[in-house]
Amino acid sequence: MDHSVIRVGILGCGTVGASLVALIQRQNSTIQARTGLSIEIPRIAVRDSSRARGVAVESSVVTTDAMAVATDPSIDVIVEVMGGLSPARELILAALAAGKPVITANKALLAACGSELFAAAEASGVDLLFEASVAGGIPFLRPLRESLLAEPVVRVMGIMNGTTNYILTRMTEAGAEYADALAEAQELGYAEADPTADVEGHDAAAKIAIVASIAFGAEVTSADVQCEGISKVTADDIAFAKRHGYAVKLLAIAERFSTPSGDELSARVHPCLIPNAHPLAAVRDSFNAVFVQGEAVGDLMFYGRGAGGDPTASAVLGDLVDAAVNLQSGAHASLGTFVPMAFRSGEQLEASWYLSLCVDDRSGVLAAIAGVFGEHGVSIDSMEQHSLSGTDDVADEARIDLIIHPAPERDVQATLDALSALDSVRSVGSTIRVLVEGDR
Ligand code: NAP
Ligand code: HSE
Repeated sequence: MDHSVIRVGILGCGTVGASLVALIQRQNSTIQARTGLSIEIPRIAVRDSSRARGVAVESSVVTTDAMAVATDPSIDVIVEVMGGLSPARELILAALAAGKPVITANKALLAACGSELFAAAEASGVDLLFEASVAGGIPFLRPLRESLLAEPVVRVMGIMNGTTNYILTRMTEAGAEYADALAEAQELGYAEADPTADVEGHDAAAKIAIVASIAFGAEVTSADVQCEGISKVTADDIAFAKRHGYAVKLLAIAERFSTPSGDELSARVHPCLIPNAHPLAAVRDSFNAVFVQGEAVGDLMFYGRGAGGDPTASAVLGDLVDAAVNLQSGAHASLGTFVPMAFRSGEQLEASWYLSLCVDDRSGVLAAIAGVFGEHGVSIDSMEQHSLSGTDDVADEARIDLIIHPAPERDVQATLDALSALDSVRSVGSTIRVLVEGDR
């Protein structure tokens, strides 16, 4: 088969698909000059063929029969940028079974059934590439998969959701409340009308499941990720963090712990106070960044645009050219093996925490609270108290904000339960982890 012309079928022509078509049209002569390969797009599948796409595409190319594109014998490579679980899964499996390399940006699908898709690609001996599924335009998965294949990676920690990073940046820099910053993100097109997947951490959870699979050669799905979003973070929390030299970020973390009985993993998404000196604290606006820690390589950081049509299309096109070159030489990039591994539960993890309490503003209360921390072996690092009396019709109330030294999560939870049971504690407010460098 002559592969000097690579015929590509694209499933989906929305934000990413339309940008990809435009980028291929713009870069095709450069790709040809550098690789000897020319890319053609004879078929594009969409849901509604009457919609304008904003790119120059012949109407004869567009179809609503996605399966016909995925299995068309004249198509060499399939790009899946339609999103969702079904029919994307069935279409990718059909294309792989027909011996076609597949490029996908679909993090939700990979995080739900990556092992099945990886095995299908391996069985057919073709590429399944998915650089755009994590951190959009940032070339991160290929370095993780290739350059760091033999590196004993211990932790990957990142800001992998641009919408929440934008919201937290506005709350930090403009003092905005969460609801106002979210409304602004929706106006700018970062957040969807239903922002749940972004603000509750599900989007970042899918991404960290994919990252953990690749970094540790493990079977990890979204269901294995402990997930908490940013919707409960308040302007007061952000102001406290600023006063104490921290930035609040939504972190996605994958970690490996060596134990005498084998490795254990943790995969989690949660808001975190990050010291301003940490490189992730400086990642503003809708940007993404991923921080990798390896035993041999030390610390690495990847930074850039995590979303948007053009940045994401850039990652898809890089994969497409890679797959096309491999196809021509009869090679494919093996993804290796993915084995089941034990997960360390959140309760077993140690962390430093920022805790906020509303209490009675009277003598003896601070002593009672300090006593509860002492009884549970949880040590207070720093503390601030503000009287709220006289504000918003509140009488004899104070807010206490504390940071505690690293402690097992189960001890922190037991402390919070005991504090809630005290008559003098009116409510336990925010509880947010604090990143302590060097602490695992
Ligand atoms: P989008 O704008 O909603 O586009 C989806 C496209 O797929 C549309 O053209 C739609 O057709 C088509 N489609 C959906 N279901 C279909 C079906 N059953 N049969 C045929 N066509 C179908 O989505 P997107 O933002 O481009 O995202 C695409 C993928 O990239 C998703 O997996 C997403 O998670 C991932 N991704 C997106 C970004 C980003 O910044 N947008 C970043 C990283 C990864 P119609 O146009 O006719 O409705
Ligand atoms: N909704 C995602 C974000 C973009 O805000 O980062 C696609 O991954």
